[in-house]
Amino acid sequence: MSRLYKQENVIMIIKEATFVKSVTNYKQCPSPDKHEVAFIGRSNVGKSSLINMLCNNSKLAKTSGTPGKTQTINHFLINKSWYLVDLPGYGYAKVNKTIRQKFEDFISAYLINRENLDCVFVLVDSRHEPHKIDLEFIRWCGEKQIPIAIVMTKADKLKSTELEKNIQVYQETLFQEWEELPPMFVSSAEKKTGKEDLLDYIGEIVEGTTDND
Ligand code: GTP
Ligand code: MG
Repeated sequence: MSRLYKQENVIMIIKEATFVKSVTNYKQCPSPDKHEVAFIGRSNVGKSSLINMLCNNSKLAKTSGTPGKTQTINHFLINKSWYLVDLPGYGYAKVNKTIRQKFEDFISAYLINRENLDCVFVLVDSRHEPHKIDLEFIRWCGEKQIPIAIVMTKADKLKSTELEKNIQVYQETLFQEWEELPPMFVSSAEKKTGKEDLLDYIGEIVEGTTDND
């Protein structure tokens, strides 16, 4: 099972993905005249790898085994019609507090002010129990009314029974605070799974067939 969220499928194929720009201030982002989805999560959770998998291009977004690789807001133009955004990771322990605060300030300013942002995909590591910082971020998005979906990454790293258990724990944890669960997906950039479901959902968003409320 790679998709926990069910809606009528819309086929989305990424034919072209081009890098547009990297910024650290949302005011320098490309003009907000296109639909946009962004990927966020703790450092090293697999944001850039997932973007590369979705776009069939292993070199599009820079990845690394060392956390803290992506440090800017990176816009990619997809099929000349919508933006996909790779964000820096939050909660990276090895940078000092001042740098971390600066990071978090520009990311939150982007998330709050980016008027064409339709959905933030919050990536969480499927191997672990819900992490405090992820739950806090999800709660913050709720407070700010920022639409989210959750992607449980690196599913190749655990057995299917463990994966099912961890999905259930995540859902139960979210239900303690949310009346309704956000859309949830499971992916592996390594095994290239979860791609179709994510692209179907993104297709619904960027083609305007869902408000993702
Ligand atoms: P930052 O930019 O540092 O915040 O990291 P990120 O979230 O963009 O992670 P990135 O895509 O750079 O991947 C981090 C590490 O995890 C790399 O070594 C990837 O090869 C590995 N990785 C990413 N996705 C997967 C996956 O689905 N399965 C496995 N096994 N490894 C993965
Ligand atoms: Mg990255």
